[in-house]
This record gives sequence, structure tokens and C-alpha cells, in this order.
Amino acid sequence: MRIDIVTGLPDILTSPLNESIIKRAQESGSVIIEIHNLREYTHDRHQTIDDTQYGGGAGMVLKPEPLFECIDALQQARKYDEIIYMTPDGERFTQSMATELSLKQNIILICGHYKGVDERVREALVTKEISIGDYVLTGGELAAAVVVDAVVRLLPGALHDSTSAMSDTFQDNLLGAPVYTRPPEYRGMKVPDVLLTGNHKAIEEWRQEQRIKRTKEKRPDLLDD
Ligand code: ADE
Repeated sequence: MRIDIVTGLPDILTSPLNESIIKRAQESGSVIIEIHNLREYTHDRHQTIDDTQYGGGAGMVLKPEPLFECIDALQQARKYDEIIYMTPDGERFTQSMATELSLKQNIILICGHYKGVDERVREALVTKEISIGDYVLTGGELAAAVVVDAVVRLLPGALHDSTSAMSDTFQDNLLGAPVYTRPPEYRGMKVPDVLLTGNHKAIEEWRQEQRIKRTKEKRPDLLDD
């Protein structure tokens, strides 16, 4: 898979995308992640990427020209399955959306900033709009990092143990079961006996019960779906 991220603030993205699992997935060739600095697609001395909005009002808007030129250059190099704009008024990001995106070949993520992007970018270029939740961030960079993280860990070769993703919270619309590690007893608190039995069937049944119990307690809304 290939993910191209278009941003006016590339530095925000370098560190989150170059650690741990995301780093390993890039090194193993599971994913290519390229960050594109919008300022490289400007033609003025100040490398202007934003401007005030027509009609007045507070907040700057990302200009159309650098965005169109950057996306043009990417599309000349290859075909993209989705051009995604990160925005608080987009469709809410979910685990099933992460799974869908992990099956794509090439995607572009556009990070908005300030007031957002010129509407013509959304009309002419964008195929999907994603929000990571009902709150407003200063820009789409952290939201894009969230999407990349959730998608890349699902790619074959990203996790050491590929069955790990299958027992995740939200897989099957259920939260994950509680997990324990050594020691078997700590400060008087014991690991549930069943986990120490080595009886895989009993352990699986216990985990499934726990997942349902947890979901009922913490996220009953998931059971309605
Ligand atoms: N940009 C600013 N806020 C955002 C959000 N909640 N989701 C996606 N992109 C954003």
C-alpha cells in the first residue's frame, strides 16, 4: 500500500510516522508513506499557501493552486483509489473504515489547516472526507496520523502476530477482553484462574463472555448496531 500525505506542516507528521509499528511496516515494505510539503508547490517568494476568505470572517483558508498542483503531480505518477480530506465535518472514522482503507492500493490524505481548504478542492479533487471525532483540531495532521496508524497496523507484515488485530476492541463490534501478564498474583490481585489452565477452549469462552460483559457495561451503543 502507498499513502501520500499533503500538508503545510510536514514536521508534525515525521515523528508519529517514524516509530514502532509504523516504522517497521515501512521498513518491511508493507507500506510506503510519503509526506508532501505544500510550500514546494507555490511560486511566490514567501511560499504562500493560505489567504483570507472571500466575504470576510476570521481564519485563513488554504489556497487552491498549491493543492491542485500537488495532487496533479501525484496523479500523473499513479492512479489513486481515494483522495481523502481530513476535516471535522467529514464522516466519522471507525474500525471498519480503517479495514476498508487497508485494502486500497494508493490513497492521498489532505490535511486542512486554519479555516480549511478552498471549497473547489473538495468539489473537484476529494473523494472522501474523514473526521476522527466531534472536536476541532488546529489542523488535519494529527487526524491523518491517527488514520495512518489505524490502517497500517492492519497491513500484512505490520504486526508480529497477525491474529492480534483480530482480537482487537471494535472487531465484531465488541470491546476487547481484559489482558494479564506475569506475575500471577500482584498486591493481592490474582489473574483469573482460567487463563492459567492452558485450556484453550475454556479461555476462548471466557474471553468472549468478558468481551460481551465489557461492551454492555462501557459501550452499550455498540450492541445496538
Ligand atoms: N481537522 C481538524 N479537526 C479535525 C477532526 N476532528 N478530524 C479530522 N480532521 C480534522
